[in-house]
Amino acid sequence: SIFVVQASSSSSSSTTVVDPQGIKIDSVPTKPIEGQKTGTSGLRKKVKVFLQENYLANWIQALFNSLPPEDFKNGVLVLGGDGRYFNKEAAQIIIKIAAGNGVGKILVGRDGILSTPAVSAVIRKQKANGGFIMSASHNPGGPEYDWGIKFNYSSGQPAPESITDKIYGNTLSISEIKTAAIPDVDLSRLGATEYGSFSVEVIDPVADYLELMKDVFDFPLIKSLLSRSDFRFIFDAMHAVTGAYAKPIFVDTLGANPDSIINGVPLEDFGHGHPDPNLTYAKELVDIMYGENAPDVGAASDGDGDRNMVLGSGFFVTPSDSVAIIAANAQAAIPYFKSGPKGLARSMPTSGALDRVAEKLKLPFFEVPTGWKFFGNLMDAGKLSICGEESFGTGSNHIREKDGIWAVLAWLSIIAYRNKDKKAGEKLVSVADVVTEYWATYGRNFFSRYDYEECESEGANKMVGYLRDLISKSKSGDKYGSYTLQFVDDFTYTDPVDGSVASKQGVRFVFTDGSRIIFRLSGTGSAGATVRIYIEQFEPDVSKHDVDAQIALKPLIDLALSVSKLKEFTGREKPTVIT
Ligand code: G6P
Ligand code: ZN
Repeated sequence: SIFVVQASSSSSSSTTVVDPQGIKIDSVPTKPIEGQKTGTSGLRKKVKVFLQENYLANWIQALFNSLPPEDFKNGVLVLGGDGRYFNKEAAQIIIKIAAGNGVGKILVGRDGILSTPAVSAVIRKQKANGGFIMSASHNPGGPEYDWGIKFNYSSGQPAPESITDKIYGNTLSISEIKTAAIPDVDLSRLGATEYGSFSVEVIDPVADYLELMKDVFDFPLIKSLLSRSDFRFIFDAMHAVTGAYAKPIFVDTLGANPDSIINGVPLEDFGHGHPDPNLTYAKELVDIMYGENAPDVGAASDGDGDRNMVLGSGFFVTPSDSVAIIAANAQAAIPYFKSGPKGLARSMPTSGALDRVAEKLKLPFFEVPTGWKFFGNLMDAGKLSICGEESFGTGSNHIREKDGIWAVLAWLSIIAYRNKDKKAGEKLVSVADVVTEYWATYGRNFFSRYDYEECESEGANKMVGYLRDLISKSKSGDKYGSYTLQFVDDFTYTDPVDGSVASKQGVRFVFTDGSRIIFRLSGTGSAGATVRIYIEQFEPDVSKHDVDAQIALKPLIDLALSVSKLKEFTGREKPTVIT
């Protein structure tokens, strides 16, 4: 139903058509660009790469070429991002190509802002066909740093590999971009603008998400904690997207002190920060929480608001423990789980703490590869309620992404629930109390991750090759120092819902006492290779729970380094980040 009317003026060789409802659509000739394959979560590159002619446009058009037309024609798509450098320009490019491909309506967060969990929430609430997230997550932003784009499907989950592989295939054969000849949309004003059959509506980035949080949590319970004079909370938005959510939610709705939000204004370069909430990059928060007169609960979230870190006074909650503790307390403290969670899941390298909770609560339990997308099918099939990853991701089936603010609200709910009958002046149950009580009940899974960032790819790949070779030569019963091998493999996952198989997801050495050493290459870096080593050891003996994880795990860490010959292959003496 589209017909050519004139040669376009915007590009010498493109043609313009007008659809029956009257938007002009330019057909811009283009050529394939190498290297547009998506990683663990979307296409992520340096900004400079995205600034090459048609780089983003090619990928967006390849995406429309990959989707079945009924998934977007006259449909509704959501668009938002973490506020980083290049998002504003990118939003205009995406809107025009969406219109050019026959999308009916785009819902875009004001100023292009929507956290990753909020995009998932808006897609679900507004029954949209899907959505775009403009973010490179926790990677630094600015002209010299990273940009990225992710596409989520109609239930709010990241697009499956079958789609992202198709997109990649189409980036290699693309020849034309269809883009609507409409003016740039003013993203600063709420409300809808129509362009013939196509419209753009600028929405409040917080409203739908906040409604959902009110449904999930007992807000009066959390408010009763945050408004106590003997309780102090601090949230570090790291100048990233949760800056747009923290004040409306924690302060305006839940009564937290306005001073409890730090780095609360989203900035295009995150204030020169590295917006990853861990012990290394959230240093300001960590210093406060380990300093004198530390607040009771401290938390941070990453660039796009899906990760979280939770701390008590002088106490770090490791993400593997965090999901287990949330699961153990969910039914009591969080109304959304009042009939009990349906099932629990973690990624393979995440510690086995959650397994013990599932066993005790007699819940179905799943172990999936690294990547939030693997939880979606289980949730859609009604098999999974609460899940988490060691990489500071925690969430539930309220949406189809991990959710930083949700995790913080879950912890505040647990602390509020435990202290709801405490009178002013009585000693409150602390984060450390909750965690140590949990260890006493379930045992402690000591866990640590060593990251070697931006290694030469060649050495890192050789190391993985060497480890895979070692797998074929090893057998159960082999001795590794004082450890006895139970099995070693390269993790393969078969999705119990659709039967799809993901192989080569991480080399794991599992010993007879349950200790594990796991090796993987990160799928989220934008340059070189990041080697991750995950080390875990279970300790049932309460008298040994107070030991520092680095000390408890030292023998296994040394073993991991010698088994992998990491230093030989990568030349690295020390990890760049330890969690
Ligand atoms: C993102 C994904 C997570 C994943 C994490 C680390 O945050 O959403 O699912 O665990 O990256 O992935 P990586 O491949 O870098 O270890
Ligand atoms: Zn993120």
